[in-house]
Amino acid sequence: MIRVLGIETSCDETAASVVGLRPGAAPEILSNVVLSQIEEHAAFGGVVPEIAARAHVEALDGIIEAALSNAETGLGDIDAIAATAGPGLVGGLIVGLMMAKAIASAAGKPLIAINHLEGHALTARLTDGLPFPYLLLLVSGGHTQIVRVAGVGDYQRWATTIDDALGEAFDKTAKMLGLPYPGGPNVEKAASRGDAARFVFPRPMKGEVRPDFSFSGLKTAVRQAATAIAPLGEQDVADICASFQTAVSDALGDRVGRALTRFHEEYPGAAAPALVVAGGVAANREIRATLERLCSERGFAFVAPPHALCTDNAAMIAWAGIERLRAGLSEPDAMDFVPRSRWPLDGISAPRVGSGRRGAKA
Ligand code: KG4
Ligand code: ZN
Repeated sequence: MIRVLGIETSCDETAASVVGLRPGAAPEILSNVVLSQIEEHAAFGGVVPEIAARAHVEALDGIIEAALSNAETGLGDIDAIAATAGPGLVGGLIVGLMMAKAIASAAGKPLIAINHLEGHALTARLTDGLPFPYLLLLVSGGHTQIVRVAGVGDYQRWATTIDDALGEAFDKTAKMLGLPYPGGPNVEKAASRGDAARFVFPRPMKGEVRPDFSFSGLKTAVRQAATAIAPLGEQDVADICASFQTAVSDALGDRVGRALTRFHEEYPGAAAPALVVAGGVAANREIRATLERLCSERGFAFVAPPHALCTDNAAMIAWAGIERLRAGLSEPDAMDFVPRSRWPLDGISAPRVGSGRRGAKA
């Protein structure tokens, strides 16, 4: 059995995991330990990079020990160490990658530098054994992207956000309305009691030929609506949340619909096309229902890995390490690898002109 130790520290989760693969068998997650720092950042309404980096330093060795012990494995039985080397908050990346280099050097094991987005992109192969090619929709606090995944290391970004990430838009909306951090789940909860027809918010980019996303205009519209009727009662907040969520789902459905059409055009013979979702926002039931409906209309399978593997974790990093080892693609000089706060998955996608501030991890 190949066993890889994965380490993830790119944002506000400190995570370590051991994933194993026996020839001819399905991969096994032998351990998956995730420590969320949500409480440390809650008072600030978002992730504070300095606090995150310090929390990783304090927790990481214990988390790695727990991952090895839960997997009933010692470092001697590990074939390689895979660590997230970007994109993300650079302080956290330095902590994780330095730790991985130290372990690799002390234990005499190879080190594989992993792109965090590749971890998300390949998770559906760990959980569902999904064959290439497929489409990935990554919607988290730091990223909003559609990626065509055609093989290990063969990715093409088809769409990205030109301003805020979708999770960030949920978090900012929540903050504006006085709902606690993280905003997404609280906006969804409030929306369940609200009237989605009370406010008509814009559907940014809907119908446009350009494939990208935009959410900052929607955020401004929410602020204007809230200011116009302030002070807000509980029902007002619920109605704004419901109207916001419906606008977001509608805009997302339009953008993803375009990508499904393009996929059909580029892979007319694909027998079982699939859309994979990843990232915390994929937990939202209305968004999920919209995407499921769209996929069933267009003949796509809708693949949503279990929630714990959709959000940040180290099993996806260990798995990306195994995929790279199998494909003969591991970085030969990873010990010299410098963490990259920005690291586009396909290496060729130009930065979007006119983009504003992006999410913490973009
Ligand atoms: O993937 P994730 O856990 O961490 C990042 O890599 O960013 O995603 C966190 C983001 C946050 O912005 C959070 O508000 C959002 O996902 N989120 C949701 C929901 N649950 C989490 N957004 C909308 N609806 C939800 N139910
Ligand atoms: Zn992520």
